[in-house]
Amino acid sequence: MEVVILPDAAAGAGVVADAVAALLGRRPEAVLGLATGSSPVPVYDELVARYRAGAVSFAQARAFLLDEYVGLPAGHPQSYATYIDRVFTSRVDFGPGAVRSPDGTASDLAAAGVAYEAAIKAAGGVDLQLLGIGGDGHIGFNEPGSSLASRTRLKTLTGQTRADNARFFASLDDVPRHVITQGVGTILAARHLVLVAQGATKAAAVALAVEGPVTAMVPASALQLHPHVTVVLDEAAASRLSLASYYRETYANKPAWQGL
Ligand code: GLP
Repeated sequence: MEVVILPDAAAGAGVVADAVAALLGRRPEAVLGLATGSSPVPVYDELVARYRAGAVSFAQARAFLLDEYVGLPAGHPQSYATYIDRVFTSRVDFGPGAVRSPDGTASDLAAAGVAYEAAIKAAGGVDLQLLGIGGDGHIGFNEPGSSLASRTRLKTLTGQTRADNARFFASLDDVPRHVITQGVGTILAARHLVLVAQGATKAAAVALAVEGPVTAMVPASALQLHPHVTVVLDEAAASRLSLASYYRETYANKPAWQGL
């Protein structure tokens, strides 16, 4: 696992955008894994700026979203499919049908999970998966206690996650209880995992995920089992890491050819 500590979200977005652009440069038909939430937004804004400058194209790329609320009608402003379209995918040149998300409107959610896994496999798997982290250590919507081998399936949100996400809805009662999310096992199957986190509210979860034991109680700790993980943090999100100075020294002395 590589931990990159940078002064702010904009600096982090620059290095993540570099990795995405390098991937698309060598493999234009690459498969991206996209995350919602606010943490990756600076990365999306940076990629949009580079697209507008003619420096990167998504025309042949495909993308899979991590998760979706269950029960929100298609087109609901807070559905994750709508959200990713608004903040990123409609602002660049993805082709029609190139961006997929789990079907939270399906009457058979178990079958929808199986179908989503099959679609990812048929696309050749995810090359680069962007991730945020919940304050309780969740990735996607894999709440504490999620199987580390789990695949796309129905999950029930914790009260804390519903409260965290209530700001996007008219009231807490409007936040769905159920979601369909890629499992931890699904996420671990991507070739490169890039987790971004900013701010002091994420510091404890980041420290547990990066330096704590691997445990289903902190689903993001499963990233320690993956051979190619990059964790991009601002100073506040990194503030509880015991090896922070080692990570800084490592990154400062990294050979330029290595990339992320
Ligand atoms: C939601 C999403 C996660 C995201 C998390 C943190 O629960 N399902 O994918 O990482 O929120 O969100 P934010 O980045 O807004 O802090």
